[in-house]
Amino acid sequence: MSDLKVSAIICAAGKGERAGFDKNKLLVPLYGAPALWHTLKKFDMPEISEVIVTASAKDFKEISALCKPFSYKVVRGGKTRTESVKNALNEVTGEIVLIHDGARPFLSKELILNAIDGVKKFGSAICAVKLTDTAVCGQLGLVTDRLDRDSTFRVQTPQGFLTEDIRRAYELSGKAEYTDDSAVYGEFIAPPRLIDGEEGNKKLTFAEDFNAEIPPLKCGAGLRAGIGIDVHAFGDGNSVTLGGIKIPCDKGLVAHSDGDVIIHALMDALLSAGGLKDIGHYFPDNDEEFKGANSAELLKRVVNFLKGENLVPCGASITVQAEKPKLSPYIDKMTEVLSGILGIERQAVAISAGTSEKLGFVGEGLGICVYALVTLKEI
Ligand code: CTP
Ligand code: MG
Repeated sequence: MSDLKVSAIICAAGKGERAGFDKNKLLVPLYGAPALWHTLKKFDMPEISEVIVTASAKDFKEISALCKPFSYKVVRGGKTRTESVKNALNEVTGEIVLIHDGARPFLSKELILNAIDGVKKFGSAICAVKLTDTAVCGQLGLVTDRLDRDSTFRVQTPQGFLTEDIRRAYELSGKAEYTDDSAVYGEFIAPPRLIDGEEGNKKLTFAEDFNAEIPPLKCGAGLRAGIGIDVHAFGDGNSVTLGGIKIPCDKGLVAHSDGDVIIHALMDALLSAGGLKDIGHYFPDNDEEFKGANSAELLKRVVNFLKGENLVPCGASITVQAEKPKLSPYIDKMTEVLSGILGIERQAVAISAGTSEKLGFVGEGLGICVYALVTLKEI
């Protein structure tokens, strides 16, 4: 079962009538991008081989544009969700298919992986959460029956199946309408298997679901990012210190310290990610203590400052713009030095270098400019 190809269907062909916008709710912005985009993004993972998205004739162009960067296939939906899923199933080529509502952008990637595992183990996997409220049946304003809360679930998507099973179920269902796929599978194939859904995996149904109270998208809780930029001018000398290494050059860098412009940008990025003040605040350039200072030692101090804030580095991405010296022979050594000081794996530090095509102060050989981006983790 481990090498089965997995496809996903994302249903987006609805009208979103209950939300009451002037267009399909899935095309209304959520955190600055159409709600559907967030759902599409979640399925962009190596474990999923193909994604098929249903779209109405009205939204076809707009949804196709959203799907293009992901190379997802777009098919025409039908009048009802049931019809839309049937159309999409015709296009599926994987042995396993996950069917998901475009209106649920908050699911985690783990939930998608669990659903795939569930199908491999049990033949079907329906994400569902237990009720926390007491549930009753009612008619004409009167309670007519009580449901056992411990065996009553709210069913979500994704719902995963073996493709041949769910295809057969839909074929057998004829013209009947269903609100989800587990109902079709349950009626014609077998009782579907429940797996743990997520409380956060809410469906955008009403306009107020787009308000800020909805749970924020999971984007690596406890992670902080920071950016730092530094520039130093060339001056007299016959070497430069970059990334903690002395490199021969026909010029030096003008600085109060050793002029390690890479480490300075990196320190500023780290301080910024930690919500601290900038490098000039902690190591003023008019302070005798820092005259000719070894920047690598200052970087160690910054890492310690962060520890004091319960923060540790997890990655750094550094871009150097310099017409000279040629840096490629020294990148590995710099990576080793910096990852050692930051206390992270070498692969978590990336240094790239390039020239500025003779343009601007870098291109004219007047100095070096460095951009650094880091992430920190709360401990
Ligand atoms: N859907 C679909 N084809 C349809 C109807 C619905 O692909 N003919 C999709 C919706 O785009 C949505 C999901 O199925 O992502 C779940 O449906 P629902 O939340 O009911 O969305 P809408 O039908 O768009 O909303 P409403 O019922 O309020 O009109
Ligand atoms: Mg609907």
